[in-house]
Amino acid sequence: MPSRVGSPSPRSMTPPRPVGRSPSNGELKRPGSATGKKTPRGSGAASARDDGGTIHRVHVVVRLRPFSVRGETGAAAVVFEQAKSTITVTPKDEADRGNFRTFALDGILGPDAKQTDAFDSVRDTCLSVLDGVSACVMCYGQTGSGKTHTLSNLDGRDPSQNGVMPRAFQALFDRIDAGEEDARFEVSVQYVQIYMELIQDLLDPVQNVSLREDSSGRVFLTGTTTYAVKSWQECVEWFTAGTKNRTTAFTQMNAHSSRSHAAFILTVIKHANGVKTTSSLYMIDLAGSERTAKSEVVGVNFDEAVAINSSLTVLGRVIYTLANPKNKIRPPFRESKLTRMLTNVFTHGARTTLIVCCAMGFDDVAETNSSLEFAKQAMNVKVREMKNEEVDYYALAMQLQQQLDSQTEAVQKDVVDKVALDAISREKRILAMRVAQLEDYIKYQQRQIDAFRKAMTSAANDLFSELGDWTVHTGLPEPLPAHLMDRSTPRPPAPLD
Ligand SMILES: Nc1ncnc2c1ncn2[C@@H]1O[C@H](COP(=O)(O)OP(=O)(O)OP(=O)(O)O)[C@@H](O)[C@H]1O
Ligand SMILES: [Mg+2]
Repeated sequence: MPSRVGSPSPRSMTPPRPVGRSPSNGELKRPGSATGKKTPRGSGAASARDDGGTIHRVHVVVRLRPFSVRGETGAAAVVFEQAKSTITVTPKDEADRGNFRTFALDGILGPDAKQTDAFDSVRDTCLSVLDGVSACVMCYGQTGSGKTHTLSNLDGRDPSQNGVMPRAFQALFDRIDAGEEDARFEVSVQYVQIYMELIQDLLDPVQNVSLREDSSGRVFLTGTTTYAVKSWQECVEWFTAGTKNRTTAFTQMNAHSSRSHAAFILTVIKHANGVKTTSSLYMIDLAGSERTAKSEVVGVNFDEAVAINSSLTVLGRVIYTLANPKNKIRPPFRESKLTRMLTNVFTHGARTTLIVCCAMGFDDVAETNSSLEFAKQAMNVKVREMKNEEVDYYALAMQLQQQLDSQTEAVQKDVVDKVALDAISREKRILAMRVAQLEDYIKYQQRQIDAFRKAMTSAANDLFSELGDWTVHTGLPEPLPAHLMDRSTPRPPAPLD
């Protein structure tokens, strides 16, 4: 598994302009639909279901580079019919002109297609990582045909020229930030290049990267630095930083020719309903096949071209083998670093869209035919969808802990309520008893007063009768006669606290 997860260091750059939210229905928005142009077929057309689950066919879109980019003039060798998604290539040799070849694709992005059209043709594929399905968007084609422009372009001054990658970052985070109920996402990125059959970490060039395989045959990178990202801007920052480390060179075919295959891998861990799903989006900007006689490369650039061409040859063989399973030939994944890294894509159920870039001139007919041949084979590759799911024990433990906490809280509240009620009713009983005692005491006092008044009256009467006999009484009054004394004397209640 990825080695380290760190946080990105800030780098100054102008983030691309927002490209808008992805369609909520998840349908492929067809390129050029806003301009009324016929556009590539939706990737849904490349999926089917059988009893074992969904099977995706590799979806193939061809992008034709504008004819004049390299200063070409004259007639184009390539014509396309957008309504039928076909491309016809006229042979270079005039004597052979009748033997043109026609290829039917899933979609065509003509020379006037915009960068938004290119992204729209892969949007569904990119977003499938949020549903736990790994995905791959790969640009294939001869050198100078527009692969890097289509996939990796980042234009701070004119964001309309931004390629698929920055748009994918934004579409993914737009959906993550929109918030899926009960789902939590962790996103991390890796960025590597395969240069002369060596894998190098573009985010941390000192790292020593290699490929390993786990018991289920899943191939993973070891020694790369993996960075956690929280926004599409952070993805763009890492992508910008890594691209600066990518190897390019001037050739006669392309002033900024990519001399390595680059893979930006965005891994999404989704936690939802006690299940943890891990899926990766591989965005692969291949180095272009080149005829060294045309690119006029020498020295190290010649060696690079040889390495590029041989790894692309292995890729072609892998695709051919996968497209023709009846031949029962094992795909030669292990014969190049590129195909070994792509093992997961083709054997572990990634949804794949291939953008095949082609030039349109007569000078490039051989390369264009060969790229379209590759495209035709790739369209026959079928991959059974697989999700890398496991029980999210951590989430389950947290969920159970929460349940326990709320139940404990409820029980504690019940206990507290009962104790309080008991105390109140005991208090009420004591108060009632005290009230009764006080009432008795008041009655007793009242009787005492009555008895005293009676005694006083009788004493006064006696006194007056004695005074009538001129007798002078000098002592204290006699105690009250016994019959006037109240014998049921209650004790006074204790004073209240
Ligand atoms: N659709 C396009 N519109 C305008 N310019 C384009 C288009 N496609 C390619 N270009 C231009 O063509 C040139 C070559 O394109 P790019 O570098 O993308 O080719 P590439 O296929 O990546 O080649 P390589 O394999 O050598 O890396 C660049 O200057 C690029 O800006
Ligand atoms: Mg390139």
